[in-house]
Amino acid sequence: MIQTTPDCQAPLIDTENDSNNPEFNQILTDRLSRRSMLKGSFGAAATLYFGGGSLLFSPTGETHAATGALKLNFAAVAKTLDDKVTLAQGYSYRIISSTGDPLAHGIPAYSNNGSDRADSFSKRVGDHHDGMHFFGLGKNGQWSPLASDRGLLCVNHESVTAAFLHPNGQTIADEKRLSDNEVMKEMLAVGMSVAEVKKVGQSYELVKDSRFNRRVTSMTDIEITGPAARSPLMTTKYSVTGTRTRGTLGNCANGHTPWGTYLTCEENWAFYFRRLAADDAKRSAREITSLKRYGVKGNSYLLWATVQNDTPENHFGRWDASISGSSSDGSDDYRNAPNTYGWVVEIDPFNPDSIPKKRTALGRFAHEGAWPGLVIAGQPLVWYMGCDSRHEYIYKYVSNAVWDPADAKRGSAAGDKYMNEGTLYVARFNADGSGDWLELSYGRNGLDRDNTYYSFDDQADVLINARLAADARGATKMDRPEWGAVNPKNGEVYMTLTHNPSRALDKVDAANPRFYNDPKKGVAQKGNANGHIIRWAEQDNKGSATHFQWDVFLFAARATADRDNINVSELSADNDFSSPDGLWFARSGLLWVETDDHAYTDVSNCMLLAAIPGRVGDGARKTIVNTDNDQQTMVSTFVGAVPGDNNLRRFLVGPVDCEITGLAETPDGRALFVNIQHPGETTSGKNFAIADPSTYLSHWPQGGSARPRSSTIVITRNDGGPIGADLI
Ligand code: FEO
Ligand code: CA
Ligand code: CA
Ligand code: CA
Repeated sequence: MIQTTPDCQAPLIDTENDSNNPEFNQILTDRLSRRSMLKGSFGAAATLYFGGGSLLFSPTGETHAATGALKLNFAAVAKTLDDKVTLAQGYSYRIISSTGDPLAHGIPAYSNNGSDRADSFSKRVGDHHDGMHFFGLGKNGQWSPLASDRGLLCVNHESVTAAFLHPNGQTIADEKRLSDNEVMKEMLAVGMSVAEVKKVGQSYELVKDSRFNRRVTSMTDIEITGPAARSPLMTTKYSVTGTRTRGTLGNCANGHTPWGTYLTCEENWAFYFRRLAADDAKRSAREITSLKRYGVKGNSYLLWATVQNDTPENHFGRWDASISGSSSDGSDDYRNAPNTYGWVVEIDPFNPDSIPKKRTALGRFAHEGAWPGLVIAGQPLVWYMGCDSRHEYIYKYVSNAVWDPADAKRGSAAGDKYMNEGTLYVARFNADGSGDWLELSYGRNGLDRDNTYYSFDDQADVLINARLAADARGATKMDRPEWGAVNPKNGEVYMTLTHNPSRALDKVDAANPRFYNDPKKGVAQKGNANGHIIRWAEQDNKGSATHFQWDVFLFAARATADRDNINVSELSADNDFSSPDGLWFARSGLLWVETDDHAYTDVSNCMLLAAIPGRVGDGARKTIVNTDNDQQTMVSTFVGAVPGDNNLRRFLVGPVDCEITGLAETPDGRALFVNIQHPGETTSGKNFAIADPSTYLSHWPQGGSARPRSSTIVITRNDGGPIGADLI
């Protein structure tokens, strides 16, 4: 039986960036030198970037004083392996929705035994809840940025735990799916959902009959916008003009816009496409370079393309990316369909009939999310983005148009103004604590037909093959960029680097400085097993800057690990964690950190922590010594101030085998929405039998012998106060 991915990382082994980008080796040589200690004071350099006390604008347009201290208002939760949500004392939670819950009247309650009709999932909550955002809903049915009592909750559904969706798991023989009904259900259980929520008492519940409730799935018609629209590389049988595609997929993290629309981001889409080795003979060298760099190969995850009796609309065959037609341009098959995935997709939650738009100006890669920078009138808009695979890159997009607050009410028409024309950059983290944004524009810096990595035809080609363009520019290979978050108080950007088992002892660098062994139950886990959180401050505090200063906010580690070189942030039993993934700033300036961990799960399930952040440059330069047997490397890096127990605490621990992901807050800061993704996800072990509930690793949330379900929970403080921290 084919099972769901254990998480979004297993297939990433195939898409690992093994490019030998030109500047990498040179940088490495610098960093491995024991004499490459840096001159000058990073702290002093960082100080030059900031003035004091100005008023800043959050992404929702509110103003904040750039001062104001926070104090955590809860006692730390202990690490636990319990199959439940363990929450800080003084707080309560309730479930908003779980996989399969109806989003419309007339849809029966979810059976949770696999017997539900496949097509009903077009009106049910999807599976694997991930990135999320709360949009206040005004009485007029429009976006009301400060409304907290009613809202539209947009939730990504990244993937499926297929074993639990069907009566007896997936029906497969000879590497082929035998039930088109099962595949249809899976195709409708991914994507995202929009659901109205309303305040009831002190908590919230889903409004089942709201006219705003909506599913966007891998079946939904979507418009392709921006420079890559109409490119010959986007031509498919579905849209011979390259202006439409069908569906969105791998909807991992998210973002939002200052005009009240939601951004859902396509991360692990590549391996849903089938492309067997025989297809290589029909492809040009350029095509093979591109397909290989994005990992489009093999019989496809979940085997959607293998359904024998395709529909006239090619609902199943469209997942086969091989050249099967006779056309020269791909207008009679789906050879180019993978080029229509890997984008940021804009959805207007307030217009349920609106057609979502893929925003190609923001580049194509394994998009984790797209996090807006500070929104300031008269300045360009910025979104920060990570490509989550081992050794992939951090990007940002800067709009050509400068922000006009009058556009806040224009919905996705404003998206056409700000998100179709702009500049894409990729990050290089230098060994001296500075960084550069490297422009990815056709015809500049060698991104043209003569490029030796890949011959770029035009800007559409640069965007469709953004990974190749970033390779050519010499971007820094990171330890799997996951979520980003922008501090609403000062515009500094934080990004999780979740972990990287492929980080080699001799391939550490200043921004990815650790190689170590974190044994789990006696089994070695080498590389950067626990991950870290990097942060940067743009030069002159301008999102459009091309230079920045960086440091490492937190190194994740077991509290018991060596404090000199592994537990560098001196984490304690109250705040140690591994594999940071979700990351999100409350309006108060409190930073939330979620984990998607497999390294420390011998001790604790995944968790949510709250952090009071400092500022870039508040720590010190440090040399880390990495050791493997009798080999050592040393690297100089920049470490933020040790947070201590007062500034970093564990707030929640999830049920067994879940990922904690997705965060949204009501504008009043009195309710926090959190997603519990795929409890019991590794149930697919050899002892698993769908008929024997005792083999399920989790039964959360229903308990007893129930199948586990991904869920959104809402957390409130029992006395109605702000979540996590008080202003002092
Ligand atoms: Fe879907 Fe990178 O997490
Ligand atoms: Ca996951
Ligand atoms: Ca993630
Ligand atoms: Ca992850």
